[in-house]
Amino acid sequence: MMTSTPTALTTLQNKRVLLGLCGGIAAYKAAELCRLLVGAGAQVQVVMTKGAQEFITPLTMQALSGQAVHTELLDPGAEAAMGHIQLARWADLILVAPASANFMARLAHGEASDLLTAVCLARRCPLALAPAMNQAMWSNASTAANLGLLKAAGILLFGPANGVQACGDVGPGRLLEPNELLQLCAAQFATGSLAGQRVVITAGPTREAIDPVRYLSNHSSGKMGYALAAAAIEAGADVTLISGPTDLPVPERCKLVPVISALDMLAACQVQAADIFIAVAAVADYRVALPAAGKIKKSAEELSLALVRNPDILATIATSTPRPFCVGFAAETDNLADYAKAKLHSKGLDMIVANDATSTFGNDSASVTAYWPGGEQLFEPQSKTQLARRLIALISQRSLIPHV
Ligand code: C5P
Repeated sequence: MMTSTPTALTTLQNKRVLLGLCGGIAAYKAAELCRLLVGAGAQVQVVMTKGAQEFITPLTMQALSGQAVHTELLDPGAEAAMGHIQLARWADLILVAPASANFMARLAHGEASDLLTAVCLARRCPLALAPAMNQAMWSNASTAANLGLLKAAGILLFGPANGVQACGDVGPGRLLEPNELLQLCAAQFATGSLAGQRVVITAGPTREAIDPVRYLSNHSSGKMGYALAAAAIEAGADVTLISGPTDLPVPERCKLVPVISALDMLAACQVQAADIFIAVAAVADYRVALPAAGKIKKSAEELSLALVRNPDILATIATSTPRPFCVGFAAETDNLADYAKAKLHSKGLDMIVANDATSTFGNDSASVTAYWPGGEQLFEPQSKTQLARRLIALISQRSLIPHV
């Protein structure tokens, strides 16, 4: 049996795990699993099928998770508090343990006839099943066919183990031990995919001085850049965040370089060694040619400001030597895909992430499409935290492929 390690304790910290329970004698082990997940710092919400409640009470799971347990799909009270869509959006990982043969059959065929199947169908995060059933049911051709469909849909399988079963049979179909399930959950987050990589991220707006008290700027909140910094740290990277002014807390274990203007940001970027450079900052395209030394007094009816182009920080870094893997962001109000792909080429990037400028700025969630030479991936609307983790996973995967 595996034991709980510091890895599980750190990687599950603040992760949102939705634990689904189906009916089966192994449901009692889910109580211990819930306790271990909470002990490892995870936030746990429990969904139980009717069958599960025959084996273990919602009260037990509520006491262990510290949260009300969800059981009904069509309960108006429960739907108002946290309905199936909210639960699905909330989760970073869904683990169904134990997963019964009946549940797997319904899931394989896209049913949403109870709360647990509905949440699984609406999921935006990885889904893992820990099957538990009699060995003959596990070996049955129908279960095997359903399993094929579930695997094809990208659903993860934790176990089952071989051994003596509650019914006296011996064979495959035992639920993995709670500690083993804990480690497998932790492994979903412990990508370590950027271990030892130096990641430099620009974030937030820049401010271009007009005079000592006024500036030109934009609505960037910095949320996406900060979320990417946190996700890169989670993935083991050594992260430097070069940020224009924002109100956001600095992610832990992240080196912050605060800057104000585009020229400051460029200078800060040029002195940072990077293996991966992610430009999320909404850099002002122009700055005031000659900022006034003193406050400009109002007198004339009209005032003209001469503006000059700011250097393109990302394009500059993309031509530096040694050249990091370069990722840009393109916020556009129209022709999103075309403009983003054009920037991928004109700035000489390895990847560009396109988002809709009308809905992104300041929001906590976003939907984006990543483009790279010869490929693209759509990310459905989701929280910037979740999106950042998935973008970092994609960036780490693509940055392993030799680039120019
Ligand atoms: O050209 P555009 O501003 O749309 O390009 C957006 C991308 O380029 C973003 O990744 C942004 O951070 C970066 N950029 C930059 N320096 C500029 C302008 C944009 O790094 N002066």
